[in-house]
Amino acid sequence: MDGIDALRGKFLDQISSAADPDALEAVRLAALGKKGEISLKMRDLGQMSPEERQSAGPVLNGLKSEIDAALKARRASLEDAALDARLKAEWLDVTLPGRPRPMGTIHPISQVMDELTAIFSDMGFAVAEGPQIESDWYNFDALNIAPEHPSRQEMDTFYMHRAPGDNRPPHVLRTHTSPVQIRAMQDQGAPIRVIAPGRVYRMDMDQTHTPMFHQVEGLAIDRDISMAQLKWTLEEFCRAFFEVDEVELRFRASHFPFTEPSAEVDIRCSWEGGQLKIGEGKDWLEILGSGMVHPHVLRAGGIDPDQWQGFAFGVGIDRIAMLKYGIPDLRAFFESDLRWLRHYGFAALDQPALAAGLSR
Ligand code: PHE
Repeated sequence: MDGIDALRGKFLDQISSAADPDALEAVRLAALGKKGEISLKMRDLGQMSPEERQSAGPVLNGLKSEIDAALKARRASLEDAALDARLKAEWLDVTLPGRPRPMGTIHPISQVMDELTAIFSDMGFAVAEGPQIESDWYNFDALNIAPEHPSRQEMDTFYMHRAPGDNRPPHVLRTHTSPVQIRAMQDQGAPIRVIAPGRVYRMDMDQTHTPMFHQVEGLAIDRDISMAQLKWTLEEFCRAFFEVDEVELRFRASHFPFTEPSAEVDIRCSWEGGQLKIGEGKDWLEILGSGMVHPHVLRAGGIDPDQWQGFAFGVGIDRIAMLKYGIPDLRAFFESDLRWLRHYGFAALDQPALAAGLSR
């Protein structure tokens, strides 16, 4: 038949040069599709005489199956090539060393806050919070601090700016966590047991002072609370926190406007060869201020001093963190030096729990 060899040659060429499955499919349609050249020739067989058909039929059928086979073979080899390319592209060297992932640490202050929260919650204290920018009423007046009290002076306190012409007293960066006493009393009424850990600010800077530092306030108000309960609570706390069975606390008479009587508390310790030991030795280290809440303060918190009384204390968190973990310089706490953070920081899984390490 005319042109069969030409057709065969043309399609076999196109098949072998089809570069991808789409091109190959186009060749298949052009040859064997409904309107493909070979299909059309097969349709012509119907109009042929029986003799013509007898010779043309097998030739056409032979061509059709030859092209069909060539298409299949080409498809298979294109698929192989595609798979090869994919395997090459997605190749993974499992012998390469892993990429290190930077791992952070828990700052000692956060760790200590978690620890003391665990200890005080075990004793029935809830956590209360207040703003770091505080009105001077909450920070001073409500705490029975007179207008002429030295701690109000510009030297210690950071005052916020007021707009020119605004003559209200300026807000302050709270100088202690004690204003949270007032806020907690106003929010919850009596009886009450809260601690309030947080940041406080004073203008001070040397090896043991930074302008921002941390305190935890404690407040317990009920009908018959005495100094004895204050003493027991603080001793229990120190024993659990410093993980020593014997702690000795010394209560020194002191003065705070918001407590009466007031006591500063020292803890017995020893410094030997630069090593600090809590609970033994001849030295005393001041760690907190405390006392029985002043009636004026109860009243400012909306609590009747004839019905209720209680104790309050304020502990320097940075101070006790330095003591417990042997960190010599306070300033380094807030310098964000990675080497320091790696050295003194805690692993994320190092969760304080009374059953693990914080037992008494
Ligand atoms: N607010 C005091 C301080 O910052 C500490 C304190 C708190 C004292 C509660 C007595 C009662 O020094």
